[in-house]
Amino acid sequence: MPRRFYLQTVGCQMNVLDSELVASELLGAGYEQVAGPSRADVVLLNTCSVRQHAEDKIYSALGRLKELKDQRPAMIIGVLGCMAQKDRHEILRRAPHVDIVLGPGWLDRLPSLIEDAAAGGGPKVEVSLDRLGNPRAKVERSFVTFSPHRPPTTRPIPHQAMVRIMFGCDNFCTYCIVPLVRGPEQSRPAAEIVEEVRRLADDGCVEATLLGQTVNSYRDTSGSRTVELADLLAMLHEIKGIRRLKFVTSHPRYMTDRLLTAVRDLPKVSPYFHVPAQSGSNAVLQRMKRGYTVEEYRAMLARIRDFVPGAAVTSDFIVGFCGETEEDFRQTSELVGEARFKNSFIFKYSGRPGTKAAELFEDDISEAVKRRRNNELLAIQDAICLEDNQPFLGRTVEILVEGPSKVTKKRAKQGEAAESPHPSPLPRGEGTLIENPLPRSEGTVQLIGRTTCDRIVFIEGRPEMAGQILPVTIERADAFTLFGKIATEDNK
Ligand code: 5AD
Ligand code: SF4
Repeated sequence: MPRRFYLQTVGCQMNVLDSELVASELLGAGYEQVAGPSRADVVLLNTCSVRQHAEDKIYSALGRLKELKDQRPAMIIGVLGCMAQKDRHEILRRAPHVDIVLGPGWLDRLPSLIEDAAAGGGPKVEVSLDRLGNPRAKVERSFVTFSPHRPPTTRPIPHQAMVRIMFGCDNFCTYCIVPLVRGPEQSRPAAEIVEEVRRLADDGCVEATLLGQTVNSYRDTSGSRTVELADLLAMLHEIKGIRRLKFVTSHPRYMTDRLLTAVRDLPKVSPYFHVPAQSGSNAVLQRMKRGYTVEEYRAMLARIRDFVPGAAVTSDFIVGFCGETEEDFRQTSELVGEARFKNSFIFKYSGRPGTKAAELFEDDISEAVKRRRNNELLAIQDAICLEDNQPFLGRTVEILVEGPSKVTKKRAKQGEAAESPHPSPLPRGEGTLIENPLPRSEGTVQLIGRTTCDRIVFIEGRPEMAGQILPVTIERADAFTLFGKIATEDNK
């Protein structure tokens, strides 16, 4: 029987969470996780369909795995996640050496599919029902909850956990493949979420990040009283051991005063909002079918700043969407210039077959123009990041210590294979290897931590400080990282 698995993840936090759950399930079933495909009996790729580039990476990986499988025909290759749901036939046509194709709605079936694949008889395919042409209730049932118990050891950072509170999306923004591959929007019952967070807290988790495609439209109507995100945060706030709560990704349309009040009044909830604007032009927003105007987005930002002074806001933007003119782009630049986001994640538009945009509009902006706009927007944002980090100099902030930084891990790892079991994509700043310019004393290493508004801070400290919330005085501020010193009574 296969015993060792290698799991590689591409894509968003939903995928990172799915991978954690899959790994927990397999570890619980007696498998061992290995750091590279060469020693693995089962190689699993958890995939993303949001942009073409992510899909191309998977096909190249499958190409490389073919050589390995030619040498070791018993090896089982599984493609999981969004691409499996979207491209099941295409995957088997382009990579007939794949043994398992498993959509994100049926991850609980993985252990039995591996056994079936080991027994032979051709590729095993398990995906959810297509949204188009099937009744909604039936489609909903074909995306099943998957929340096996997960020991802290399966998490990259044991003290932090992501918790899914919703599945799917009903917005159908015209560029986006997510509603097709992750299915209809469904909120998990609040009681189930509270129970999951309580278990995580019992295991030592201090920070929970609630995940949903449009997390602020969370609505559990299964009980006698409707539970919205504001209510859920209040319920989770009561859990002993939990010290921080975050939620991503918000949609501008559902940023209610009730939610902002909850963020303001519940001290454990981070004053941090990831609320993508996507564009600063009304014409583009309309073609994207985002459901708001740039004036409404600006008004929402003003309300956030009003209710929660000092809140950090981050955004996503797509540049080079179909028909985006220089004037449209100028308006986006203007928004980024004035909104003072803590960070912006900027993407070049990638046409996704099956979406409305691919059907209705021409992908008419050249790659060169997309690249230029991408770089221009990044430059505006980077300058703001650097500027807005400066006021932190000399300030004492509380950080949750995540553990040794990449610099520390790299030092410890010298000579080991570079492959990581958790190669999730990191926002700028987190992946950088920066030597702390501040002096290091005996027994300390560079640790990475985060402020409550999600800013990355490097400190020197002892590895066992992981999981603690510590006061840190900031001594250096770059665009994406702060450097600090633990504030003791002497130097506070
Ligand atoms: N092309 C480029 N970027 C996209 N996103 C979603 N779909 C596409 C696409 N087709 C971006 C959006 C979203 C983020 C997760 O990915 O900005 O907020
Ligand atoms: Fe995609 Fe829009 Fe749903 Fe976000 S809100 S997942 S961009 S369809």
